Amino acid sequence: MLTGKIALVTGASRGIGRAVALRLAQAGADVVVNYLRKERAAREVAQAIEAYGRRARVVKADIGDEDDLARLFDEVVAFGGLDILIANAAIGVMEPLLSVTAKHWQRTVGTNAWGFLTMVQKAVPLMRARGGGRVVALTSLGSTRVIEQYGLVGSSKAALEALVRYWAVELAPESILVNAVSPGIIETDAIRSLSSPEQVLEVVRRQTPVGRLATPEDVAGLVAFLCSPDAQMIVGQTLVVDGGYSHLAARVDT
Ligand SMILES: NC(=O)c1ccc[n+]([C@@H]2O[C@H](COP(=O)([O-])OP(=O)(O)OC[C@H]3O[C@@H](n4cnc5c(N)ncnc54)[C@H](OP(=O)(O)O)[C@@H]3O)[C@@H](O)[C@H]2O)c1
Repeated sequence: MLTGKIALVTGASRGIGRAVALRLAQAGADVVVNYLRKERAAREVAQAIEAYGRRARVVKADIGDEDDLARLFDEVVAFGGLDILIANAAIGVMEPLLSVTAKHWQRTVGTNAWGFLTMVQKAVPLMRARGGGRVVALTSLGSTRVIEQYGLVGSSKAALEALVRYWAVELAPESILVNAVSPGIIETDAIRSLSSPEQVLEVVRRQTPVGRLATPEDVAGLVAFLCSPDAQMIVGQTLVVDGGYSHLAARVDT
């Protein structure tokens, strides 16, 4: 399905990014595996990609840093170009808006929203050279709904989703299709680092109509679909993968 395509997945060493990188490789893509700190985990992802018979390149880069981003894209060019950009990596602390400082805001919005804007700017000429491309950004329900202590990250994700719509309309005439995927709660290190993760996971599991939490692989399946020829008319959408969780206003336990 994606044979001959080259993908860049940011934050591909762990969690959702890892699952997406492996899924794209299974579908035939060569993958640039970006990470920030966990080199060994990133190398293991690259080995798994190579075990599928695909090429992989591991690149350490902070997607909130201009110089790192320039170097990351130099590596992408050296790897052969770009057809698929998965903007997955994100940062953010959980805290009430009353505690947010200018530094927190600039770092979080700078990484999650400006990082995305500038990555697409760098991706466009590479995708044009290959006749088109796909961009998928990972967002979250906190962009449109209130999650406790999530105001800073939620605001950065709201900006990200707006950018997805604007980029989508600007780039669709060049066959570069841009969309966002919004997972519900997925059990990854990001969730495991919360103060009481088991409690959060159990509450969400109970309130999820399909009866289980969505997994990184569920998210990866949708991302791969958006990169496939079948998704040619899906433009500028934010698609939710949460087993129906976000539809439920309340569950009355009997
Ligand atoms: N998990 C959820 O419930 C959930 C729900 C909704 C949306 N999402 C979104 O899904 C995406 C992935 O979340 P996750 O839960 O899979 O996260 P995760 O398990 O914490 O993994 C984060 C990944 O991003 C990398 N990373 C972090 N900061 C980076 C930076 N500045 N530059 C480059 N790479 C960086 C990490 O690299 P290292 O391994 O090197 O540290 C790691 O590969 C995020 O955009 C998140 O907002 C997650």
